[in-house]
Amino acid sequence: METELQALLNRSAVKVYDSTYKIEKSELEEILTFANRAPSAWNLQHWHFLAITSDEAKEKLLPIAYNQKQITESSVTIVVLGDKQANLNVETIYGSAVENGEITEDIKNMVQKQVEAVYQNQNYAYEAAVMNATFPAMQIMNAATIKGLGTCAIGGFNRTQLEEAFQIDERFVPLMLITIGKTLKDPRTSTRRPLSEVVTYH
Ligand SMILES: Cc1cc2nc3c(=O)[nH]c(=O)nc-3n(C[C@H](O)[C@H](O)[C@H](O)COP(=O)(O)O)c2cc1C
Repeated sequence: METELQALLNRSAVKVYDSTYKIEKSELEEILTFANRAPSAWNLQHWHFLAITSDEAKEKLLPIAYNQKQITESSVTIVVLGDKQANLNVETIYGSAVENGEITEDIKNMVQKQVEAVYQNQNYAYEAAVMNATFPAMQIMNAATIKGLGTCAIGGFNRTQLEEAFQIDERFVPLMLITIGKTLKDPRTSTRRPLSEVVTYH
């Protein structure tokens, strides 16, 4: 049996899926639970996911993703959104941490002040949305891969059309789509530059 690390090492972008395969909701939620465990700055959890599962929603998404047929042939596409107003999450996240006795009210207030200060800067808010939401995106791919499913990250889609078609609040920035399904055709393997080119030791 392939180890989890080997499975991740062997992952490739899947383009051809078995369109008859339907992922169980419980399995999808296991993957999303894993994604939702991703780390984030101040634990603000700068993400929201749209799970595109119905035939109707897939047909709507298809032209927006430039007719890449993996949208309709995979079992589900997750639209990963980054949250530009993750500062608004402090109350919920830190409020329950106070209630659970994990932190004091003073710590919550201190964090709230720090977060509100950095969120005055719009560039920070945008960069934080993009940076933090890439972590759950990769978690989705890793969890699905370990479960033996195929995935592909898709950046080729029209942001404006996506926002309109799925009525995405302007609070969110659409980062990428991730298709998940049963691999029908093994994808081409891809090469990587050697570590000597991508790592500098100091
Ligand atoms: C941000 C991002 C955007 C991508 N967009 C697309 C896409 O629009 N269509 C597609 O078929 N593959 C897309 N890919 C998949 C890449 O082409 C693929 O990951 C890369 O060639 C490396 O191959 P591998 O994933 O099989 O190792 C995207 C990957 C990433 C990370």
